[in-house]
Amino acid sequence: MKKTLTVEQKIEALRSEIDHHNRQYYVYDDPVIPDAEYDRLLRELQDLEAQHPGLITPDSPTQRVGDKPLDAFDTVAHSLPMLSLDNAFDEQEMADFERRIRDRLNLSEAEPIHYLAEPKLDGLALNLRYEKGRLTLGATRGDGTSGENVTSNVRTIKAIPLKLSGEGWPDVLEVRGEVFMPRKGFDRLNQQAREAGEKTFVNPRNAAAGSLRQLDPRLTAKRPLSFFAYGFGQISSGRIAARQSDCMNRLFQWDIPISPQLEVVVGIEGCLEYYNHILRVRDDLLYDIDGVVFKIDDLALQERIGSVSRAPRWAIAYKFPAQEETTRVESIEFQVGRTGAVTPVARLQPVFVGGVTVSNATLHNMDEVARKDVRPGDTVMVRRAGDVIPEVVSVVDPNREGRSRPVELPTHCPVCNSQILRPEGEAVARCSGGLFCGAQRKEAIKHFASRKALDIEGLGDKLVEQLVEQELVKDPADLYALSKEQLADLERMADKSAQNLLDALEKSKITTLGRFLYALGIMGIGETMANTLARSLGNLEAIMALRFADMVEIKSSQAAKLHQALHAVPRKQHLPLDDPDFATNFDFKWLTRTHMHLLMEKFSDLDNLMAAEAKDIANIPRLSIDGVGTVLADQLVTFFRQEHNREVIAKLQQAGVHWPDASSAASESGERPLEGKTIVITGTLSRPRDEIKSDLEALGAKITGSVSKKTDYLIAGEAAGSKLAKAEKLGVPVLDESGLQALLDASHQPSTEG
Ligand code: IVH
Repeated sequence: MKKTLTVEQKIEALRSEIDHHNRQYYVYDDPVIPDAEYDRLLRELQDLEAQHPGLITPDSPTQRVGDKPLDAFDTVAHSLPMLSLDNAFDEQEMADFERRIRDRLNLSEAEPIHYLAEPKLDGLALNLRYEKGRLTLGATRGDGTSGENVTSNVRTIKAIPLKLSGEGWPDVLEVRGEVFMPRKGFDRLNQQAREAGEKTFVNPRNAAAGSLRQLDPRLTAKRPLSFFAYGFGQISSGRIAARQSDCMNRLFQWDIPISPQLEVVVGIEGCLEYYNHILRVRDDLLYDIDGVVFKIDDLALQERIGSVSRAPRWAIAYKFPAQEETTRVESIEFQVGRTGAVTPVARLQPVFVGGVTVSNATLHNMDEVARKDVRPGDTVMVRRAGDVIPEVVSVVDPNREGRSRPVELPTHCPVCNSQILRPEGEAVARCSGGLFCGAQRKEAIKHFASRKALDIEGLGDKLVEQLVEQELVKDPADLYALSKEQLADLERMADKSAQNLLDALEKSKITTLGRFLYALGIMGIGETMANTLARSLGNLEAIMALRFADMVEIKSSQAAKLHQALHAVPRKQHLPLDDPDFATNFDFKWLTRTHMHLLMEKFSDLDNLMAAEAKDIANIPRLSIDGVGTVLADQLVTFFRQEHNREVIAKLQQAGVHWPDASSAASESGERPLEGKTIVITGTLSRPRDEIKSDLEALGAKITGSVSKKTDYLIAGEAAGSKLAKAEKLGVPVLDESGLQALLDASHQPSTEG
């Protein structure tokens, strides 16, 4: 039979359940119940406590929200000094450590020394005092003799128990350990700060220190802090066990978090093995560590060997190579990646960090450069963690004499001098010279040859790489000038395969306008957009001649506002029309770079624009194509305006690349015979599905993915499955391969009926 619990028992049960989930979540990052369930438990406890205020105790999990702000922290004297650690940086220094121990304790080589090994957490030291099992004090290390009383803040850290569980704890128990911020929480905190436009923390250690030393505990309560114990201060009963490792296990039984990586190792060999193991898993840990700590496990031996004023003789920190160092920025350059992304890179005075010498560090993108405001000459913090590429974390000491201007994105590619574009609202800037740019050559040619582009069979990635590396091919047009001898000389090529490739190249010369456009690799022009443009404009010349005014609109209301704003201040207060900052003077969100191009195109300079009437500034674009907005307009016009791109296109056409005018047969007869027809293709057919799709689209059909009552035909190849069944059920006409051919043939015939 179910026993009814008293209110007290219910409250007690809820508290210990919530404490347990806090530990799972905040200490082990391993929640066992969903957040909503946790919230429900907490609410239930809050409700019960509200009904029975007399039962609220300071150690209830509901009391972790944070007290009112303090004016300053009180100073508290430590009952026993909080010591530091000696460091070792290599195996020799570790061997010296054990040598000193043996000498002082008179231990022979035959006697093994056991050490408790643990990670050295990168946070800040904290002393916790429990009296009769209740948390009564939390204090920072300070100068080791006295620190700051941060109890109200410590009470908000959910990893730290407000009361000890189990039994056997001494009346007074001081536990020492490290407060730290797990990386995940740190990233989230900085993300929030960025979104709010606030300053970010340089690293989790600073974030932990800043959070623990907040005068307003309600702020600390919102910071994702955690804690692992590593030692002891005053203990009223003397030792709680004979070995350091057993003492730690007892803490764990009382719910005080300890590192899951604690291990007892034997001798220096054991220490080195542990060090190497932790070094390997370092980047997989949930928090930053900066080394490992070894302590003689036997407390009697610890006592015999004692401490010097600053640090115990029985412990040592074996430090990892630092992952962060400071150095000077020599210059900031821009690198172009294989896909055209333009990345700012800091050239640094070489510095040893993360185990290697680093002389370049990425700045990611222009948003990051602006946020960190890094400039040549500055002293910066550089970080290299694991295999991650080195990055500039922050400016430590700005050195700005004569460098008062922030770093700007170059207008032209440092590799090929094509224009650099950075679409509105995007962090990444790109070189627009894909076809032509040396940095992007391999990718551009792979793309050109790919299945949905010119579909050059046999021209795989490896082959493209060889062709580019041996400088046989600089742009896609060079492919058509390759000789059989040149090809046969390449690795893994023979006469036969060389001939096959030549045949495939020959075959690829007949294509469609949509494929050709797609193959050019213009930023923002995918397969669908390429086909849409081909269909809407019909020929390459028209596409190449596109102007901003064809695609970009200035509404009459916008024109009126701009006109008014221009005339509200004297002419000489405006920047020139082609100045990149011209638009920033006006707070019009719509006035993008592309609109500025349109104004340049139309008025060529500011005098002409100022002389114009509002109605002349407004325009209605000639084209309205689904999906073409200001961003795409910019990318298209920029691409085709560049002489070197036009040259490659001309070279390709001279080499014989062409596209039979797909729409001409139909347009001659004045119709697109499959206009308005919806067709679905399924199963395996003898030609690639994309090819069939573009044939049908050229005749006006719309190709969709699923069969419905509105479908006019289902084209079903081999192994057609559920779509075929559905078409049959709905009575949709089904065409096989020969039916398809008949449909295509019939559509190409001039109509006989009209
Ligand atoms: S033992 C009496 N163990 O490192 C020995 N310290 O550089 C006191 N630290 O002030 C320290 N992880 O804040 C110890 N597993 C660990 C540690 C650790 C981090 C910190 C601690 C100490 C500093 C010394």
